[in-house]
Amino acid sequence: MNNTRNKILTCVAATMACALTALAADKQLVVGFSQIGAESGWRTANTDSIKSEATKRNISLKFADAQQKQENQIKALRSFIAQGVDVIAFSPVVETGWQPVLTEIKKAHIPVVLTDRAVNVTDDSLFVTFIGSDFVEEGRRAGEWLAKATSGKAVIAELVGTPGSAPAIDRKKGFEEILAKNPGMKIVKSQSGDFTRAKGKEVMESFLKSPDAKQITALFAHNDDMALGAIQAMEEAGIKPGKDILIVSIDGVKGAFEAMAAGKLNCTVECNPLIGPQLFDAVQSIMDKKTLPKRTQVLEGVYDQSQAAKELPNRKY
Ligand code: AHR
Repeated sequence: MNNTRNKILTCVAATMACALTALAADKQLVVGFSQIGAESGWRTANTDSIKSEATKRNISLKFADAQQKQENQIKALRSFIAQGVDVIAFSPVVETGWQPVLTEIKKAHIPVVLTDRAVNVTDDSLFVTFIGSDFVEEGRRAGEWLAKATSGKAVIAELVGTPGSAPAIDRKKGFEEILAKNPGMKIVKSQSGDFTRAKGKEVMESFLKSPDAKQITALFAHNDDMALGAIQAMEEAGIKPGKDILIVSIDGVKGAFEAMAAGKLNCTVECNPLIGPQLFDAVQSIMDKKTLPKRTQVLEGVYDQSQAAKELPNRKY
C-alpha cells in the first residue's frame, strides 16, 4: 500500500517539475529600452526597428522616450530595475555620467546592452555588449568624399550633433583627421544643431547672415536632418544647395536620397538604424548564457548623387 502511494507521489512530483520547467521556458522575456528621443528620421527608424522586432519575437518591451534628456534616461533605467526586467538596453544621449546608474543595475544583476551610442565608463563590465556604428569612420568617410570632390580645397561650415554625444564627438574627430591631411580644407564655422532639422536650419541661417558667409564653399552636417534644415535655409537665402555650397552629411535617410536626386545634397554617409534584430539576438544570447563580443559593428556604405535615383526605391528608412 505504502509502495503504491510512494509511486503515485513520485509521479505527481515529476509531472509538476516538468510543468514548471515548461512554464519557465515559456515565460515571456521582459526588456526595458530607454530611447534618446525622436530628434531625427534616423531615430524614428531606429525606434520602429526595435519595437517591431520585439513584437515579432513576442518579447514584452518596456519602452521609454527620454526626449533627449539624460536625467529622463537615468529615471527610466531606475524604473526598469524596480520592475525587475530581464535585460536593460539603451542608447545613451551623451557619453559621460552613466557610471552610478550602471553600477546600480549591476548590483541588481540585470545585464545591459548598449545600442547605437557608447558610454565612457572606467569599468566595462558594467555592460555586456555594445551594438552600433563606427562614428569616427563615418566622419572620415565624409571628409574623404569632400576632399575628393573639392581636390582638397574647401571653406567649411560644420553643423555639429548633440554636444557630448558619441556621434558628435567621433564624427568631428574622424572628419578632422582628413582635414589634417588636406591643408587646403578648413572649418570656419562650427555650431551644434542638436541633430534636428529645425535647429540645423536655424544655425545655418545664422551662418549665412554672418559678414564672412560668402567664403563658405561646403557644409559638413553630422546628420541628414540638420543638412535638410540647412538646405531650406540656403534656398530661402537665394543660395543653391549642392552647387553654390557642397553638402555632405551622415545617416542615409530617404529624405537625403530625395535631396540628392534633386541635386541639393551631394553625399550621405550611411549610418544604419535598423538594429532591432541584432539587439534581440544579443538579448537571446544573454538569456542562453552565451558569450558575446564586447563590440558589434553595423555595416554601412557611402552614397553620392550619381547613385541616388537607383538606390532610392531600396531605402528602408
Ligand atoms: O546616434 C546616431 C545619430 O543620432 C544619428 O546620426 C542621428 O540622426 C541621430 O539623432
